[in-house]
Amino acid sequence: MRLVWPEPADGDLDRDALAHLYAHDEGCVRVNFVASADGAVAVEGLSGGLEAPGDEVVFGLLRELADVVLVGAGTVRAEGYRGARTSPAREARRRARGRAPVPPIAVVSTRGELDPGAALFTDTTVAPLVLTAADAVDGARRALAATGAEVVAVSAADPASTDPATIVGALADRGLTRVLCEGGPALFGALLAAGRVDELCLSLAPQLVGGDAGRIVTGAALDAPRRLGLASVVAHDDGLLLRYRTGD
Ligand SMILES: NC(=O)c1ccc[n+]([C@@H]2O[C@H](COP(=O)([O-])OP(=O)(O)OC[C@H]3O[C@@H](n4cnc5c(N)ncnc54)[C@H](OP(=O)(O)O)[C@@H]3O)[C@@H](O)[C@H]2O)c1
Repeated sequence: MRLVWPEPADGDLDRDALAHLYAHDEGCVRVNFVASADGAVAVEGLSGGLEAPGDEVVFGLLRELADVVLVGAGTVRAEGYRGARTSPAREARRRARGRAPVPPIAVVSTRGELDPGAALFTDTTVAPLVLTAADAVDGARRALAATGAEVVAVSAADPASTDPATIVGALADRGLTRVLCEGGPALFGALLAAGRVDELCLSLAPQLVGGDAGRIVTGAALDAPRRLGLASVVAHDDGLLLRYRTGD
């Protein structure tokens, strides 16, 4: 991996240098996506068809640096999400940074209709958090009682909705302020529209996908295009690992 920007003294990046570059500050909501050069966010409905060299390394590192992994229910269902993978070495590095050994997954579902038999609940070392609408919280608690998941209402004025500011606040209430959001596009759109995104990590896969695959943001158009500040560029083989600040 080679650091391209900011101007490196020595462009080669080992794991420690990469962790330093991607340091995750308290209170920072970071969003991570992979997209093809023509903007596709999935191939046949799955992000796994996008091959961005270096993305797997950064994906694991970002989880290692985060307090919590935030994800929308659409992505959990499409990708068969499970708990964060860990290893003794990874846990030791997290402990050395003062983090819990394994970051929990926090899934946002407005309807609160999640399958208790899904890998998210059955294949994990820490119980997930389920963030849902006030109207749905009782049903979700009943349905997920046996899973050990904590189910939290994150509605603001409308009890049938989930509110981005309340989502981030509920995580902060639990000491989870370094938030890594892994999408998907609908949740990213909602967080962005509410001004709750601080950083975007974007792995650019050197591929063209065509067709009608979605983009990294969906939902209502923003009031105006949002300008991003370039924080870093890492090149690895033909892939680019970009990091932007939003100014939120
Ligand atoms: N390339 C990548 O890096 C990447 C990353 C993530 C996902 N993806 C792809 O994206 C696709 C899934 O996209 P998606 O947009 O459906 O996923 P999503 O954003 O993960 O999920 C949308 C769901 O999130 C819940 N939600 C809760 N609060 C919301 C809010 N305020 N606004 C919007 N949604 C809210 C709703 O769940 P309920 O319906 O349960 O109420 C909604 O249906 C899949 O094909 C996946 O592979 C790609």
